Amino acid sequence: MSLFWSVELLTSPNKLDFDIIPHAMPLPKRKRIRTFMLLFCIVTFATFLFSYTFRDPSLYFFKYAFRLPDNLFSKGACACRRCMAEPEDDPWFTERFNLSIHPLMTSGNSLLSDDTFKWWQWLQAESHPANYTEVVEELFQVIPDEALYADGSPERCRTCAVVGNSGNLKGSQYGDLIDSTDIIIRMNQAPTAGFEEDVGSRTTHHVMYPESSVDLDNTTHLVLIPFKTLDLQWIISALTTGTIKHTYVPVTSRIKANKDMVLIYSPTFFKYVYETWLDSHGRYPSTGFLTLLFAIHICDKVSVFGFGADQFGNWHHYWEENHLAGAFRHTGVHDGDYEYNVTLLLADKHKIQMFKGR
Ligand SMILES: *[C@@H]1O[C@H](CO)[C@@H](O)[C@H](O)[C@H]1NC(C)=O
Ligand SMILES: *[C@@H]1O[C@H](CO)[C@@H](O)[C@H](O)[C@H]1NC(C)=O
Ligand SMILES: *[C@@H]1O[C@H](CO)[C@@H](O)[C@H](O)[C@H]1NC(C)=O
Ligand SMILES: *[C@@H]1O[C@H](CO)[C@@H](O)[C@H](O)[C@H]1NC(C)=O
Repeated sequence: MSLFWSVELLTSPNKLDFDIIPHAMPLPKRKRIRTFMLLFCIVTFATFLFSYTFRDPSLYFFKYAFRLPDNLFSKGACACRRCMAEPEDDPWFTERFNLSIHPLMTSGNSLLSDDTFKWWQWLQAESHPANYTEVVEELFQVIPDEALYADGSPERCRTCAVVGNSGNLKGSQYGDLIDSTDIIIRMNQAPTAGFEEDVGSRTTHHVMYPESSVDLDNTTHLVLIPFKTLDLQWIISALTTGTIKHTYVPVTSRIKANKDMVLIYSPTFFKYVYETWLDSHGRYPSTGFLTLLFAIHICDKVSVFGFGADQFGNWHHYWEENHLAGAFRHTGVHDGDYEYNVTLLLADKHKIQMFKGR
């Protein structure tokens, strides 16, 4: 109610007199009521302004009451109600969040510092790695070389769903909610056919590495996380000649994907996620955590689905019946507990919204 109603009262005093105040009322009392109404309007309006200015949760009241769209009160960094980078932000977040490190590789940022190159080569050490510079050069003859998503502006409100593979999605009915976002990011296997009601059906970005690769449709971005030079050679091969069939395990030699939509996760960004966001916990971040941080850097609003255990504390995938499968959390490679803590912290600070399913 309040705001528009009050404005109407203010602008049509005669109507007010006629409708609300009994004619027989003595003059001083009428005056008092008018003063009260005026005060009420001012207080309402001031509350509104205050909550708008400070993005206070009480704005939800106004949004709900008037069914205001998400981006009506755009100001500042983006056109959403709340943006990833806010001027008077939480210091924990501000210290870490660095938009100048681009999440995707282009020829412009492909040259790695000695430190980064050494760290990256150590992840899945190769005995005879190919010449990285030459591989990257060949790569950008096969896939586009453009800097995407560095387009944050006061006009942009990009909503994203990061969809993990947790069994907590089973029976969650999140499908429509997930499908209604601009960008939908899935990772590794992530089947949707037969699970649409819970996980949605659209996928704009599918994050994978050679050993977890799956075929995609023509409209989905393949986002490759490279852990070694061979992974870059693999994507070239998998999109063209199909000669690479083995990394440290047998891998798909050819992949169905639109090569004009292939994106490469930047090793520099990879290291930044590990050192800055995980404080170097574990050997390296999980695909889920790398994907979450990718979303935080290209989206204005991030919703997270299918992370963590299910209601029984089980860690398994939504397409598996076996609750004992997927003991991926305790492999020693990733520090799942630390990652989950950071994820919850991001939710606490309203940087992401967690949908915990069942
Ligand atoms: C962000 O990253 C760039 C490039 O590594 C670095 O020069 C800059 O100091 C960083 N900014 C913050 C605030 O950490
Ligand atoms: C890799 O190739 C580039 C260009 O061909 C060459 O300049 C560079 O020395 C090579 N690096 C190594 C380590 O062989
Ligand atoms: C996929 O999209 C590309 C354009 O990006 C087009 O050239 C190609 O024919 C499409 N392939 C199929 C199977 O639709
Ligand atoms: C996660 O957070 C909890 C509560 O703040 C803390 O007790 C626990 O030690 C943290 N776990 C890790 C792995 O940091």
